[in-house]
Amino acid sequence: MRSRLIVAIDGPAGAGKSTAARLLAARLGYALLDTGAIYRTMALRARQRGIGWDDGAGVASLADGLDLAFRLDGDVNRVLAHGEDLTTAIRTPEISDGASRVSALPEVRAALLGLQRRIGAAGGVVVEGRDIGTVVFPDAEAKFFLTASADERARRRVAELKAGGRPADLAQTKAEILARDERDSSRAAAPLRRADDAVEIDSSALGPGQVVDKMAEIVLGRTGERSASKTP
Ligand code: DC
Repeated sequence: MRSRLIVAIDGPAGAGKSTAARLLAARLGYALLDTGAIYRTMALRARQRGIGWDDGAGVASLADGLDLAFRLDGDVNRVLAHGEDLTTAIRTPEISDGASRVSALPEVRAALLGLQRRIGAAGGVVVEGRDIGTVVFPDAEAKFFLTASADERARRRVAELKAGGRPADLAQTKAEILARDERDSSRAAAPLRRADDAVEIDSSALGPGQVVDKMAEIVLGRTGERSASKTP
């Protein structure tokens, strides 16, 4: 087995994938690919250009020549499209909804498949999304499916929005999360599901450090390295 793996982290919204992926990438010295940010970017650019979120061909055309870059800036994984920093603009509830809608369109998924594979092909990368272990990198050497209860995921999302100066209602946030789960899991194109060979981790009662300790142990076990130092 090669020493720099592709690590897939899939799971529903709010399970802690982004934090786990960022910490794991830092621990392993790997690159980080947030594929949800790509769908969010498509939704935002469609909105800016007056392309409907149900217009598969129109939204897919935005992937042509898309110049996308990720830049880790402290705790924040910045997203730049053609040099424009979209980090904050793609995290609004409206764009979350748009991303979920455009990600259900087969043309959009097909248009983004090659882009994701090119970025991750060389290995040494933690890739976070919904269909990474099942569709984008079915041969990834380490796969995780991260879950948490709906209540816990809603609580985390409200805290995250509040920290960003956008207070949100807990019950409404939970309803939105459940609606997105339902749409992401029931769509025909690459629905959210655990790959047969993915290790499932329920993060409801675990802190980010504990989740990453578990993941790092498994990844390093597969590369034949000894366990990296644990998160304090
Ligand atoms: O992980 P996120 O919340 O940033 O993802 C935004 C939306 O994109 C979410 O509704 C699911 C979708 N998505 C997807 O369908 N496939 C991926 N690989 C990543 C995200």
